[in-house]
Amino acid sequence: MKKLLLGLTAALAMTASAQAQSKYPERPITMIVPFAAGGPTDIIARIVGENMSKTLGQQIVVENVAGAGGTTGITRALTAAPDGYTIAMGHLGTFSAAPATYPGLKYDPINGMQTIGLAGGTPILIVAKKNFEPKDLKEFVAYVKANSDKVNEAHAGLGSVSWTTCTLLKGQLGVPKLNSVAYRGTGPALNDLVSGQIDFMCDQIVSVSEQVKAGTIKAYAIASAQRSPALPDVPTTKEAGLPEYQIEAWNGIAAPKGMPKEAVDKLVDALDKALNDETVKKRLLDLGTVLPTKEERTPAGFAALIKRDADKLSPVLAAAPKQ
Ligand code: MLT
Repeated sequence: MKKLLLGLTAALAMTASAQAQSKYPERPITMIVPFAAGGPTDIIARIVGENMSKTLGQQIVVENVAGAGGTTGITRALTAAPDGYTIAMGHLGTFSAAPATYPGLKYDPINGMQTIGLAGGTPILIVAKKNFEPKDLKEFVAYVKANSDKVNEAHAGLGSVSWTTCTLLKGQLGVPKLNSVAYRGTGPALNDLVSGQIDFMCDQIVSVSEQVKAGTIKAYAIASAQRSPALPDVPTTKEAGLPEYQIEAWNGIAAPKGMPKEAVDKLVDALDKALNDETVKKRLLDLGTVLPTKEERTPAGFAALIKRDADKLSPVLAAAPKQ
């Protein structure tokens, strides 16, 4: 009899805990965007997050926590309680480039976080103010080499995607240092590019494609193997004469390590549903996003991508000038 009672108590406790967990999420979820509003990370977070909210039955509230190339916001997100109520939209910079850029980084994207999945591939464009002298990529390369003391380049802080991808570009051009201006995101940097205060930057396609189409800025090339259907007139770096400059950026969701499995599963499912939604797909594709494969939408697939790119970038970034 005593055994039976103990068994019943244990069974009841298990059911109660399963019910408590199956209620997730019971309140809004904060998605930290580690850059200013209006930039590529913010744009993708808001498009995907809005649809995920519908699946989850609770709102995903985007909070912009900018600073230190995105590492301030990601640190805040990954040191929050691992309860599924704080997640982050990070990217190639915050998850694969930052560890090699910041030796004292307070988070570990490889072993110390819960990946949810990739939200989108974001090809890199070399963009410039519309009246910047060089007419094409070959002229741009020659101009930057000849005028490295006066060319202004914008980026979103050390370890950001714009900094990382332009650092690779400058390394290949043999001009490691330019006049660099750091912003809290490439959203605000884009405003200064449009108004002509900045000469050029390397940015993710999603925030610049509309401006390129409108002619308020110009794009010299896309650093991908293929042209983007969103900007079919922009040549690849290979076509435009700089074939060795190839780099793919991306944005994806992660959370503190130690979250309940059920919360992980529900977020993974909500992300997958968002990326299958026709309206979300159209909005992302129109901006030039590359939709993730099934595998890349999983925690393991996304973790593998982070590691692959960290391995690739670390040796180059560790040696790069931090400016
Ligand atoms: C942003 O959202 O502002 C960007 O992703 C910044 C960057 O990493 O270049």
